[in-house]
Amino acid sequence: MIKKCLFPAAGYGTRFLPATKSLPKEMLPIITKPLIHYGVEEAMEAGIRNMAIVTGRGKRALEDYFDISYELEHQIKGSSKEPLLKEIRHIQNSCIFTYIRQKEMRGLGDAILKGEPLIGAEAFAVILADDLCVNDDDGVLKQMVKVYNKHKCSVVAVMEVPYEETHKYGIIKASSQNGNIIKIADMVEKPSNENAPSNLAIIGRYILTPDIFDILRFIKAGVNGELQITDALKIQANEGRVLGYKFDGIRFDCGSIEGFVKATNYMYNKS
Ligand code: UTP
Repeated sequence: MIKKCLFPAAGYGTRFLPATKSLPKEMLPIITKPLIHYGVEEAMEAGIRNMAIVTGRGKRALEDYFDISYELEHQIKGSSKEPLLKEIRHIQNSCIFTYIRQKEMRGLGDAILKGEPLIGAEAFAVILADDLCVNDDDGVLKQMVKVYNKHKCSVVAVMEVPYEETHKYGIIKASSQNGNIIKIADMVEKPSNENAPSNLAIIGRYILTPDIFDILRFIKAGVNGELQITDALKIQANEGRVLGYKFDGIRFDCGSIEGFVKATNYMYNKS
């Protein structure tokens, strides 16, 4: 059973400067809800109530968001605007939030390792809130939890991307495929088009077995001098312990301006 979800949210979000100078990227709203809110809803739908957030300097707005604002509650109580707080109140009343800081931006692998004290020795989910995933039926993480419950190994969400874009992602090499479940033999972080073993890219949804922490402690920094989660997963994959899951749904790369605008239009048209 997956009980905890880790949200690495310490990145600088430089693509959204100057907005992200004092506002965490994860707090940028798609219509009325910040990106992190959608991520927490997806984790809740997957049965998770324990949200572990890796933050950094300038990210206190994240903690405030999931806390009670007594002044606002007082102002709005009994007014016609009270229903606007319904969704966030539901999250506050149902979930436990824990926080830890990543002091230096040493990459996603390092951010996940920093989350170890909040997770402990159990398998856990990871959501990168800037990848917004939507599906009319089961959410992407819920789909992945089902795969984990059956196979009890690490699971990564994958999707096909154009070969010209493989340099933006961790790319997998499959050893076999059964429907939408792929056994991964190997993976490489941000390969060029020519060196990519496939066009199946890992997106920001993972279920990781806890031995990943020991692997992250052991490996060296990789691409861009950062500790890469792909390099740690590669070690599990070489031992046949990682599945790729071709999820049902749409993923928006809200870490890019184009993806953020697309997600906004999609949600607006849906509402
Ligand atoms: P990105 O690669 O999107 O980096 O990180 P970024 O800093 O957030 O954004 P840009 O590229 O400067 O615009 C992917 C995810 O990993 C987290 C980020 O918060 C984001 O959710 N991350 C990345 C960390 O928590 N720590 C890091 O050291 C690096």
